[in-house]
This record gives sequence, structure tokens and C-alpha cells, in this order.
Amino acid sequence: MKVLWNEHIVDRDQVKLDIEDRGYQYGDGIYEVIRVYHGQCYMLEEHMQRLTASAKKIKLALPYDVTLLKEQLKALIAVEKIDNGEVYLQITRGMYSPRNHQFPPVGTVTPVLTANAIPFERPTDMQERGLTATVIPDQRWLHCDIKSLSLLGNLLSLDEAIEKGFDDALLQRDGYFTEASASNVWFVIDGQLYTHPDGPLVLPGITKIKVRALCAELGISLHEEPVAISQLPQIQECFLTNSVWEIVPVVSIDGQMVGAGDRGPITTRLQQAYIDAI
Ligand SMILES: Cc1ncc(COP(=O)(O)O)c(C=O)c1O
Repeated sequence: MKVLWNEHIVDRDQVKLDIEDRGYQYGDGIYEVIRVYHGQCYMLEEHMQRLTASAKKIKLALPYDVTLLKEQLKALIAVEKIDNGEVYLQITRGMYSPRNHQFPPVGTVTPVLTANAIPFERPTDMQERGLTATVIPDQRWLHCDIKSLSLLGNLLSLDEAIEKGFDDALLQRDGYFTEASASNVWFVIDGQLYTHPDGPLVLPGITKIKVRALCAELGISLHEEPVAISQLPQIQECFLTNSVWEIVPVVSIDGQMVGAGDRGPITTRLQQAYIDAI
């Protein structure tokens, strides 16, 4: 398997990472997951913009220019012969010794970039049948807009959901839904679509950008406003979005059917429009 290591595409076993890399020790770094369809990165420009924004928010200088990075990602997909799949890209602040919480002075540390590309088909079964979910407190920090490597809050939430016998967790903070363990969450109430506004409490999803545009095209009214947990009985449809899954219905929440307990009409329309856009 070939991977991207800084600016070079190399055999995976040639990569050398230091035990004092701050990404490894503190989760001090950022990442992106980019969908690949027919051998091409989907919405690559938007991913690069979010990567750049995340880097800025943690005072990390990208190791090299985004134009070159885009070229290298395309080369990686070509060399790995990925048709449908995903690229995982991460950048850590790099190695600094001895270990010290303080950000190293500028110029004393070199960020480390790695990326790999794997095949992954569209999860059409899950997109039809949907998932079950449970509502749990959002136990994450207050910078959820940064696509940070530190994902323990998300992982603990998913683990709790699975332990309770559900597929995923819908997170709630102060009585309002924020997002799911690894996706943005959307609700249909009175035939109108709602999702949490961008800001520090949620990740600004790339799929969200596309769904927003599709709503405008299809004439679906979209409100970027938080939905309260107390509105649960009014929810007619619920779905999750992320780059890898696209649009996936949530058919029950804490054992209560959402709508008719299957994929609803607005979800289905958006899924179809999403496929057409791809
Ligand atoms: C917490 C969280 N919210 C939202 C998303 C959706 O982001 P995107 O549509 O860019 O994949 C993700 C994706 O991994 C996520 O982890």
C-alpha cells in the first residue's frame, strides 16, 4: 500500500513517526475524510477550506501549499487505483522533545502530514433501512467546529450507544440536539427541515453544504436552528449526513419510531438528489 507522507508518496512501511509526535501524545492535530467517487475526490475544494480553517484555529501552519496537497491526493488515489472510496488525511503539529504542553515556538517544530486511500462502496443498504439512535448528553468540548484528532468524546458517545443496543448516538447539549457521534443531524417537523446552525457546537459538515444547496434547488424549507429534545414527539423524519455515508435515515430514537419507522419522503428526495449531484 502506498501512502502520502509529508509531500511524498511512499510504501506504507517506509513511514517513520516519532513517539514524541504531538499528534500521538496529545491528539494535537487535525484531519479530513474525503469521499472518492469514480477515482475523483468529491468536494475537494470545500475540504481544503475546512482543513485550512481548522489549522488556523489551532495555530498550525500547513506543511505545504494546498495546491500541491490536492495534486498529491489525486496521485495517491491514482496509484492506489481507488474507484469508490475515501481518503483519510491528518496533520499533526509534529515532534517536539522533551514533551511539553506549551505550543512549541514557531520554527522549532515541523508538522507531519499523512494520508491513505481505501476503497469503500456507497452504503446503500444502510441508506435504505436506516439506523436506530439513542439521545445522550454531548460530552465534548466547546470547539466542535475544529476537525480535531481528539475524538474521545465522540468515541465514548458511540460506544455508549452501542452498549445500549443502538446504532448511533444523537448528542444533546442543554436540551437541544447538536449532532451525532460522527455526522450532522437533521429533522423534519411540520414538513420543514431543521439542523443545528454552524458554530462552536457542531462540525461544519461538507455534506451539509451540499444538502443546503439541494434544499434550495428542491424548494425544501431549511431552518438552521437547534431542535429541542422536547420536540421529539413532533419529529416526522430524522437523518444523518457525513461524507462517507452521505444521507442515512434514523428510523427510531430511544425505541420510539420516527414517523412511520422507515425512510421518510424528504429524506428519500434528498438522497436521490444527492446521488444525481454525484
Ligand atoms: C462529529 C461530526 N459531525 C459532522 C460530520 C460530517 O462532516 P462531513 O459531512 O464533512 O463528512 C462528521 C464527519 O465525520 C463528524 O465526525
